Amino acid sequence: MLSLVVLTAACGGDFPQSSLRPQSDVARSIDDLFRGIFWLAVGVFVVVEGALLVAIVRFRERPGAERPKPVHGNTALEVAWTIVPAVILIFIGVPTMLTLWRIDRPPQGEALRVEVVGHQWWWEFNYPDLGVTTANELHVPVGHTVDLRLRSDDVVHSFWVPRLAGKRDLVPGRENQLWFTVDSAGVYPGQCAEFCGIAHALMRVRVIAEEPDVFERWAELQSHDAVEEPGGEALVETGRSIFFGAGGCISCHTIRGTPAAGVLGPDLTHVGSRSTIGAGVLRNTPTNMASWVKEPHKVKKGNLMLDMGLSDEQARDVAAYLGSLK
Ligand code: CUA
Repeated sequence: MLSLVVLTAACGGDFPQSSLRPQSDVARSIDDLFRGIFWLAVGVFVVVEGALLVAIVRFRERPGAERPKPVHGNTALEVAWTIVPAVILIFIGVPTMLTLWRIDRPPQGEALRVEVVGHQWWWEFNYPDLGVTTANELHVPVGHTVDLRLRSDDVVHSFWVPRLAGKRDLVPGRENQLWFTVDSAGVYPGQCAEFCGIAHALMRVRVIAEEPDVFERWAELQSHDAVEEPGGEALVETGRSIFFGAGGCISCHTIRGTPAAGVLGPDLTHVGSRSTIGAGVLRNTPTNMASWVKEPHKVKKGNLMLDMGLSDEQARDVAAYLGSLK
């Protein structure tokens, strides 16, 4: 009884990264395939184990029974156990190939193109048709197909958002493709699924699916140059001068509309509008941002962001400046 409780306890609750809860056309076709094969396997299991149990009971040793006669060969049986598995393999193979071909062909009809670039250890997203560049949070419109073109800047990564699609590797020197159409608005977490170095486990991704009008407003805002949100001017002022001066931040980061044009780290033009920091490691709050810029390696071991030796006050001010970039 206790073991049953423990076993079924894992079935309740919310599973944001369960591939068994598909939320896109592609994820659903993979799930349908999985369920079909699963029930076929259950059928095979029941028949085989049932036959085994019948044989164990019916032909068990009984006191006084004669020794069974050894036999050699049974043509009918051998033909049967060759044909039956072959038929089962057809029932697995045909739907599998059909599904693979369907999800592997380029998306049909109009699709929103997004370039995905894997970096140690964060994701870059470019929307070439919208003039938007962002990081770690992929915004997509609900009900519109998104056409992802994936490549890597360094080593092999793998883009995996279980509720939306299967894994797709990002391989240096080549472009891979993945597409899906999200069913409903929500945040779908995922992660890098190919070991890519020390911070691999902290290379998370969030797909934020929004109704088309909400998405359009987001894209419109993101396509503009950086605008500082009013409020907290004194801190923002100092933070900005550290960012562009002693902090050295501009050697790695871009803030469109300013002289900052570094390309090694994530584009920070609208960093204040993101919900997390460091590829999903921390929630984007002023305190978290300050500890991130002060000691990036403490927050995320192995992280390639340099420790610029900022004081607590300087880190707070830089965080205020970044937070103002909505
Ligand atoms: Cu990138 Cu693992």
